Amino acid sequence: MSRRRVLSGIQPTGAGKHLGNYLGAVRHWAAMQDEFECFFFVADLHSLTITPDPADLRSQSRRVVAELLAMGIDPSRSALFAQSHIAEHPELAWVLSCLTGFGEASRMTQFKEKGSGNVGLFNYPILQAADILLYQPHAVPVGEDQRQHLELTRDLGQRFNNRYGDTFTVPDPYVQQSADRIKDLQEPTAKMSTSKGGPGVLWVIEDDKQTLKKIRSAVTDTGREVSYDVAGKPGISNLLTIMSVATDTPVAALVEQYDGKGYGDFKADVAEAVIAMFAPVRTRFDELIADPGYLDQVLREGATTARAVASATMTTVRDRIGLLAPT
Ligand code: TYM
Repeated sequence: MSRRRVLSGIQPTGAGKHLGNYLGAVRHWAAMQDEFECFFFVADLHSLTITPDPADLRSQSRRVVAELLAMGIDPSRSALFAQSHIAEHPELAWVLSCLTGFGEASRMTQFKEKGSGNVGLFNYPILQAADILLYQPHAVPVGEDQRQHLELTRDLGQRFNNRYGDTFTVPDPYVQQSADRIKDLQEPTAKMSTSKGGPGVLWVIEDDKQTLKKIRSAVTDTGREVSYDVAGKPGISNLLTIMSVATDTPVAALVEQYDGKGYGDFKADVAEAVIAMFAPVRTRFDELIADPGYLDQVLREGATTARAVASATMTTVRDRIGLLAPT
């Protein structure tokens, strides 16, 4: 029996990937590689919606490949590729856009939150649906912020199947309960995000000293008890979540362990745990980023594997919707 398939993507823009990306997504990807047939990609076409500087986009795309490899994505077990190397992504996105209502696309929060923007931003979730449906995955491991995009993906997959006959696997979201929403350290009611940056964002690749400083100066709450209460104590609760995942200890056990201790001791231990968790990643990243030829080779091989699947799906799609086969 063939293994169940998993697919997910990550944008290359920004200073790199942050703790939220790691705990909410990439850590799970790495853990799934034994059990599932995995496809992971750098969503460079999605990043065009913010019209990045071309030289930056190129270097950030290589950088995110190095980061993913350093975080445990293994190219001998998973296809790791660039979205833009597979022309079927925008091709299927066009087909799906013709099945998407204008109102339906307008309701997507990412577009609504920005208030305005380019047509690419409006179409963003449809391209994401195409990214996913092309590979017929059973599960898509993402953080909580991507849930709405997965709902649209499922709707579009079902709609296509109803109209043209069974073509797509309708995937399950795979949203982890504990670490699906890592918050900004300075503003613990907002998610940690690349675009926000600043001292509240912990980069996977940064100096240990920076990590220590950011965690030490994380905003905490009034009171002095280390306890888990997202509404009343968002800052400490966020640090407890981070500590829990970094040390693989349930939150309740941590609360017990820090009973009677102050915030200062707790924060010092959180920083130590995060630095220890990232130590091997940071070392490996330095080696990988120094070898762009290897990074390109990983993408080339990943694209070969991905293209075979994407082009088979697209051949079926073209036939189902009534496009003439090229002769
Ligand atoms: P991106 O690049 O913003 O984020 C990559 C992954 O990290 C998760 N994430 C978080 N998880 C927990 N806490 C946080 N603070 C946090 N911030 C980010 C995201 O949920 C995501 O899983 N649209 C996608 C990229 C994409 C994609 C796809 C994903 C394009 N096509 C197809 C899956 C399938 C995005 O911008 O992710």
